[in-house]
Amino acid sequence: MGQGPRRRNEGTPAGQGGGRGGQGSARGGQGGGPAGQGGARGGQGGSAGHGGGRAGQGGGRGGGQARGRSRGPARDQARNAAFDVMRAVDERDSYANLLMPRLLRERGVKGRDAALATELAYGTLRGLGTYDAIIEMCVDRAPDPDVRDALRLGAHQLLKMRVPPHAAVGTTVDLVRLRIGAGAAKFVNAVLRKIGSRTIEEWIPIVAPDEARDPAGHLSVAYSHPRWIVSAFRDALGGRAGEVADLLAADNERPLVTLVARPGRSSVEELTDSGADPGRYSPYAAYLPEGDPGRIPAVAETRAAVQDEASQLVALALTRVPLDGRDERWLDMCAGPGGKAGLLDAIATYGDLAASGGHGFADSDDRDAADTIPAAGDGVGSGGRVAFAAASGGRAVAYPGGARLVAADVQYHRARLVWQTTRDAAVVTADGTEPAWRPGAFDRIMLDAPCTGLGALRRRPEARWRRDPAGIAELGRLQRRLLDAALDAVRPGGVVAYVTCSPHLAETRVVVGDVAGRRGDVEQLDARDYLPEIDGLGDGPHVQFWPHRHGTDAMFLALLRKRPL
Ligand SMILES: C[S@@+](CC[C@H](N)C(=O)[O-])C[C@H]1O[C@@H](n2cnc3c(N)ncnc32)[C@H](O)[C@@H]1O
Repeated sequence: MGQGPRRRNEGTPAGQGGGRGGQGSARGGQGGGPAGQGGARGGQGGSAGHGGGRAGQGGGRGGGQARGRSRGPARDQARNAAFDVMRAVDERDSYANLLMPRLLRERGVKGRDAALATELAYGTLRGLGTYDAIIEMCVDRAPDPDVRDALRLGAHQLLKMRVPPHAAVGTTVDLVRLRIGAGAAKFVNAVLRKIGSRTIEEWIPIVAPDEARDPAGHLSVAYSHPRWIVSAFRDALGGRAGEVADLLAADNERPLVTLVARPGRSSVEELTDSGADPGRYSPYAAYLPEGDPGRIPAVAETRAAVQDEASQLVALALTRVPLDGRDERWLDMCAGPGGKAGLLDAIATYGDLAASGGHGFADSDDRDAADTIPAAGDGVGSGGRVAFAAASGGRAVAYPGGARLVAADVQYHRARLVWQTTRDAAVVTADGTEPAWRPGAFDRIMLDAPCTGLGALRRRPEARWRRDPAGIAELGRLQRRLLDAALDAVRPGGVVAYVTCSPHLAETRVVVGDVAGRRGDVEQLDARDYLPEIDGLGDGPHVQFWPHRHGTDAMFLALLRKRPL
């Protein structure tokens, strides 16, 4: 790949920004003289002493040292792991948040080393736009990809972490000498000294376009987001464009680990007993300040799960809309990997216990028995929230939620994940646009549409560099087809939740407006009415969560009721 995580369509690639005068001439002098002589902090470099050449002279890996001559766990486990993740993201399009835990486990890296490795890799990947702009200012020609990744790691330690400068430079140089070669180590030492000669606050005005002349370009470099994403966020924030910097800053923070206690199966009390703190908005949420969520028994047993609070709330909102008549058949149309399906399945089965003050029932783990309800018409009473009784190995099982969830995903392996995380849902592999169900079959439908995921950039450190605005038009066509299909599949009087984990207007309001406007049978509800406990959700009728306002992913929700006949 060559240039680190592919940074597609950034508009103004870092380093090409407008307001930075005299790039060429700036290089020699910006960092406090020729690299290698060190600036304010440069001379402290632990392994320093390698400096001397001008940056740019040692760009390759000189000295005939073999690349990667000491593969595998080396002395500095945290930095080796971070470097390996960076290289895999670059060379193999790996996902850092999937690879890092596996790599740490395989190498037996734990505790503080594991935390350091994670912060190094994730923080560096998030900050790449800013670091690349600074690196470019300090070199005469583009470094090789592995050298560039090492420079990025060093820059992150120097500019954002509390690693003392001599340690940041020294450990990075050691890593490069071990993994790449002596010549490259010399070069990295020189460049890092230049980078460390200024603080991040001092570098931004030098490397970013002028804020007054090019606000999006400035924010793009200062907050390390592709320009097109900055513009999309600004548009989605509408009149509150002043918040864009807060949003971008929130995207660069490590998100809290949020858990959901699936009603009837676990409780917030059970999670707080395991070290979590109660959530702010969702009655089923808890925040885990530290540690591996998998060690919590309720999570290991899928009675609870890791789930962003906004994801919980959009699912809850769907269940809170009052319906006239039948309320037994729920569909999660794009369910994989099953976060929302897990919560909807529990509420369908046990009801919204937080609202009713009710208590969970004994485990109803018998899917065969559950298959008889409610599709076979075993429901007693009407209006939902009434008890169902079904035979389950000879014993009566009560289903106070009164509904049954069908969870579908077009991909078999994602449907399998839904199967593993739900208990009473019927899980199918099905294409929502070519439905395996009859028109009007469902009372409530969750359509959590495939989208760019721009609302969850905090969680996937490299994602912002991989997203491509060119894909939005195609996604939009799929989103429209799925929404149409959902509105066909819901009965008159029933309700569809259209959800995206993206605030991009082309995936949210525009899709809903187009589809609802074209069809004459849909009424958009004010979704804020179903989340009255939360402020700052926008002007309605849809709901938009924001990381900087709510501490959640930027989740969008529209609630559409099919007009009664
Ligand atoms: C945003 S994810 C859903 C996340 C899920 N609701 C959750 O909370 O864990 C979108 C899902 O839609 C699925 N998908 C994409 N196209 C689909 C289609 N035509 N029919 C059904 N599912 C589809 C994808 O496989 C993906 O799993």
